[in-house]
Amino acid sequence: MTKRKIVLKMGGSLLFDSSLSLQLTKLTKIVEILQEAKNIAAIIIGGGKIARKYIQAARKLNANESLCDTFGIQASRLNALLLITALGPHAYPTVITSPNDISQAALSQRILVSGGFIPGQSTTSVTFQIAEILDATDVIILTDVDGIYNKDPNKHPDAIKFDSLSISELEQVIYGTGGKTQAAAGEYRIFDAVSLQILKRSGFRVRLINGNDPNALRTLLVQANFEASFGTAVVKDMKKK
Ligand code: UTP
Repeated sequence: MTKRKIVLKMGGSLLFDSSLSLQLTKLTKIVEILQEAKNIAAIIIGGGKIARKYIQAARKLNANESLCDTFGIQASRLNALLLITALGPHAYPTVITSPNDISQAALSQRILVSGGFIPGQSTTSVTFQIAEILDATDVIILTDVDGIYNKDPNKHPDAIKFDSLSISELEQVIYGTGGKTQAAAGEYRIFDAVSLQILKRSGFRVRLINGNDPNALRTLLVQANFEASFGTAVVKDMKKK
């Protein structure tokens, strides 16, 4: 069996509570599991609420979308530095800011930590870019919900969770049939356009799980039990004959 190489994305939503305070106890609990985990090559963290606050302020000051994105990128890098601090010697000591830095930093055998790269995409795209460069076998996305639903579970109590879905089904769920995308700074969907393109051509498996569920984290990351059916798996479309 090939050895697993995992690239992890931590949604910025896991870091802040509704009043924008950093949830350090939660972060520490997640980090304890990450320190025990096997096979994590890189972690990418989102901007979360702090990014959205800065983006809103920049927009009010008439910043263009690229500059708004830059605020999001900087916020995610600040979160990445906090994660490096929490991970201690397990982490490569500086935030990875470009794909060009990855190969050399990977020689350290420590966990690489990154936030955003360039305007026009989300940290999910960065996650898939890094997963491709590192030849990862698995990408695990930690969010604040149990998986991918047919509609927003926070607004609709009757929302149904998918145990697995194909990339084209995922596109349907995210963009609907009208093909509308959401690509303003701070508002990229969990899978934005760039990430979907990389996902279609890549070889890694993707699973989205709830980062607040220590059982799911331990099962996948510490016990490396990928047979367990936590969250939602995104699978390749079957080739039509
Ligand atoms: P994300 O939207 O990816 O992180 O990045 P998030 O807010 O934590 O979202 P979830 O919780 O993972 O869904 C924050 C913002 O930073 C900019 C975008 O504006 C994005 O909305 N960004 C991030 C970029 O412009 N380029 C990048 O490579 C990454």
